[in-house]
Amino acid sequence: MKKQFLALILAVLPAFALAQAALEYPNDHVDIDLTDKAALQDGARTFANYCMGCHSAKFQRYERVAKDLGIPEQVMLENLVFTGAKIGEHMKIGMQPEQAKVWFGAPPPDLTLVARVRGADWIYTYLRTFYEDPARPWGVNNKVFPNVGMPNVLVGLQGRQVIGCKQVQVVENGKKQFDPLTGAPITHEACDQLTVVPKTGTQSEAEFDETIKNLVTFLEYSANPVKLESQRIGVYVLLYLAFFFVFAYLLKREYWKDVH
Ligand code: HEC
Repeated sequence: MKKQFLALILAVLPAFALAQAALEYPNDHVDIDLTDKAALQDGARTFANYCMGCHSAKFQRYERVAKDLGIPEQVMLENLVFTGAKIGEHMKIGMQPEQAKVWFGAPPPDLTLVARVRGADWIYTYLRTFYEDPARPWGVNNKVFPNVGMPNVLVGLQGRQVIGCKQVQVVENGKKQFDPLTGAPITHEACDQLTVVPKTGTQSEAEFDETIKNLVTFLEYSANPVKLESQRIGVYVLLYLAFFFVFAYLLKREYWKDVH
């Protein structure tokens, strides 16, 4: 009986996993280009200005970031270091985790490796799906991180995002549907939709998406700073192998000449 019960539980477990996946908010995809220095620099600036009040990146040094991203040290110190830290120091912050826990309910985690843990798409979606919810302590909630403890720190750029019903275009098989006679988009009313209140933020929707994309590019780099370097070294390794192959072949021919 016990065994049967166990088998039953094991059999229905995948169903729970599926149900969970279906409930989760679908992540928007973002294409990251780690070789885009301008994007990385913009991301680093946003990170220092808007995130480092609460989050550290303590496994990373300012000096390394400056070097990898092509930022002159003086520019880095003047524009991206607000803690009085020296260029060789780790990107730590002054906020104490115990205090932060009292203020936010949860301490803001270190973000050096967050892109590895959550993935770029998740962070990209997370930072763009804060919406107003008066029931929450900071007046905001989040689509991919329900009841999150973090306030919407980018509201000044994005503007106020609200949730509600609106007309959205019908999509079938990934294609937006249009009326064959009039050419007008076919819409239906959908609820639980996010809308930015016009003129409440300093950036347009496209500009804000770009800001977040650059920020995620920086976090992706920060989680794996050697990725750029390993790609470059990989090319040398392949070149070396190709070069070595020629000599190995010539040597083989030399040996086998006597055997034949
Ligand atoms: C006012 C403080 C504050 C600021 C500023 C802030 N955050 Fe947060 N953040 C938090 C707190 C608190 C949490 C933990 C939320 C929880 O666990 O409920 C958090 C959580 C997160 C998480 C989820 C981490 C995880 O894996 O659970 C990410 C990602 C994140 N923040 C990114 C950012 C980025 C990027 C910025 C800058 C644009 C930023 N935060 C600015 C307070 C802040």
